[in-house]
Amino acid sequence: MRPHALPGSVLALMLATLPMTAVAQAPLAAEGCLGCHGPDGKGGPGAAAIAGRDRAELVATMLAFRANERPGTIMGRIARGYTEAEIAAVADHFSRIR
Ligand code: HEC
Repeated sequence: MRPHALPGSVLALMLATLPMTAVAQAPLAAEGCLGCHGPDGKGGPGAAAIAGRDRAELVATMLAFRANERPGTIMGRIARGYTEAEIAAVADHFSRIR
C-alpha cells in the first residue's frame, strides 16, 4: 500500500470537522451559565443578562471574579472552575448573541 493512499474525501472531511470542534467548545463551557443567566444568557431569576455584552468586558469580569477582585455571592467560585481558554470561549459565545 502506498503511504499517501489517504483518499481526498477523507482528508476533506477531517479538515471540515476541524473548525466545528473549535466552535462546539463554547456552547459546552457556556452550558453551566444558562441555569442562572437564562437559557440564552439574556438574564434569569437573580442573575443579570450576559448575552450581547462586550467580549473583552465579559473576560475581564470573569477574571476579576476568579481573582476575588470583584465581589459576588457565587460567581467567584464558578469562575474559578473555568480555565482562561474556557472563559475566552464562553465570552466569545455570549458576546455573539444579539
Ligand atoms: C448559580 C448561578 C450562576 C451561574 C451558574 C453563573 N452565574 Fe454569573 N452571576 C450569578 C450571580 C448571582 C451574579 C451576581 C454576582 C454574584 O453575586 O456572584 C452573576 C454575575 C455575573 C456577571 C456580572 C454581571 C453584571 O452585570 O454584573 C457575569 C459577566 C457573569 N455572571 C457571567 C457568568 C458566566 C460566563 C457563567 C458561566 C461560566 C455564569 N455567570 C454562571 C449567578 C450565576
